[in-house]
Amino acid sequence: MIVSNRLPVDHVSGEGEDAVWRPSPGGLVAALEPMMKREDGVWIGWVGIADAEFEPFEADGIDIKPVALSAQDVEYYYEGFSNDTLWPLYHDVIAPPSFHREWWEAYVQVNRRFADAALESAAPGAVVWVHDYQLQLVPKMLRDARPDLVIGFFDHIPFPAYGIYAQLPWRKQVVEGLLGADVIGFQRLGDAGNFARAVRRLLGYETRGAVIEVPLDHDEGVGHRHVKTNRRGARVRTVLAKQFPISIDAQRYQDLASQPDIQARARQIREELGNPTTIMLGVDRLDYTKGIGHRLKAYGELLRDQSIDVEDVTLVQVASPSRERVETYKQLRDEVELTVSRINGDYSTISHTAISYLHQGYPREEMVALYLAADVMLVTALRDGMNLVAKEYVASRIDNDGVLVLSEFTGASDEMKQALLVNPHDIEGLKNAMVRAIEMPKRERSRRMRALRKRVLTHDVQRWSATFFDALTHVTHEDDFGAHETPHNPQLARSVPGSEGPAES
Ligand code: G6P
Repeated sequence: MIVSNRLPVDHVSGEGEDAVWRPSPGGLVAALEPMMKREDGVWIGWVGIADAEFEPFEADGIDIKPVALSAQDVEYYYEGFSNDTLWPLYHDVIAPPSFHREWWEAYVQVNRRFADAALESAAPGAVVWVHDYQLQLVPKMLRDARPDLVIGFFDHIPFPAYGIYAQLPWRKQVVEGLLGADVIGFQRLGDAGNFARAVRRLLGYETRGAVIEVPLDHDEGVGHRHVKTNRRGARVRTVLAKQFPISIDAQRYQDLASQPDIQARARQIREELGNPTTIMLGVDRLDYTKGIGHRLKAYGELLRDQSIDVEDVTLVQVASPSRERVETYKQLRDEVELTVSRINGDYSTISHTAISYLHQGYPREEMVALYLAADVMLVTALRDGMNLVAKEYVASRIDNDGVLVLSEFTGASDEMKQALLVNPHDIEGLKNAMVRAIEMPKRERSRRMRALRKRVLTHDVQRWSATFFDALTHVTHEDDFGAHETPHNPQLARSVPGSEGPAES
């Protein structure tokens, strides 16, 4: 059973029996589809529309169980607590998080609704995999009601350093919520380390390597998995908290990039842009974590300094609409669009536009054509759990060409070392990397791209989900004691702000 805020299908039209659905573009469904079909899986999630009630239905062999959210739930739980409290907090407070008690109440209530929907359908010993920051309380809600369940959780976004996490007024409840899982997956080693540290600071539990020991009361633990007596003779339940970096359905991108019609579309895009020598591309949800402003600033300065010429170089920026009713997103849109207009006003010519700005989402086919057309891909996120766009670009480049400029603040940068790694806050460094990417000789481009492609094609989303399930259904967590230098590595401990102190509880 999968529990995620959004379902793997989008509502197209109609109600009740007449409702029409289309698969949503995410990679998660591609990874889990075969297993969900084989095991009669159920997917629980919100359809993405307020006040809409839908009966369970089947889509492509997967049972879908919609959870309804009222307009107020959407405002308080989704736009409020999830995307105006947790999202900015977990992305290192790039935007200030808002803390409102009513939003927290709604978050608890909606998490309860998702948990209840899962409990209704869960067979004895069922495997339930809960996803992302919107549903962090669900694992404990499930465990309290049904200790027989095998519960996994995957955090798709960063888990912040304790000094930042500690701002959350409900920090203890959230950590306790997550600890209801048997396995908690993170994108990066550092995220797992930050989580283990929050557990030690807030709850005083012992952590050894990737294993967290959750103490059990005398009468607790009957029917629980992973119960043992620890070194001090206390009865504990062990929870595995470690990194499982997510990926994409790489083969699918490679296949699309091999299609003649998509290759023809890539050539057409180049022509329509006036056949520039270099096309640079940015593809993001319009989100303040993506560093779109930093990218535009660097590009604008290169044009101003005459390091590049608008006749030779052009930038295509796809910024897909996102969370448009949240104030910080409205402000970001205004800022980005003002900057784009200024740069275009200052540097475009009648025949050459400096920035083609597209505030739209596109089908996967069009995205692959854009990736094939782009000589340089710019991923300049200020903080990003993984960044799958970087992996999509690489998987699409079956010609072993193209240069990836990648922020070191993305999870992807842990694996994609052959990219040109940048600190997007360092505008001079970013400008230099852009020029280097534009001027990079073919041999070097090809050497780097081959290495990047090898990594992405072998570490795809199928491997990610299989590795997670393997850990989840593994009998014991013993193998992971000390296997990961998460919390006990003194260097790592030094790299996170705040100091280790006594537990609060
Ligand atoms: C990020 C989150 C996902 C979320 C997606 C789109 O990738 O990790 O959980 O679904 O953004 O955001 P939205 O608010 O539209 O679901």
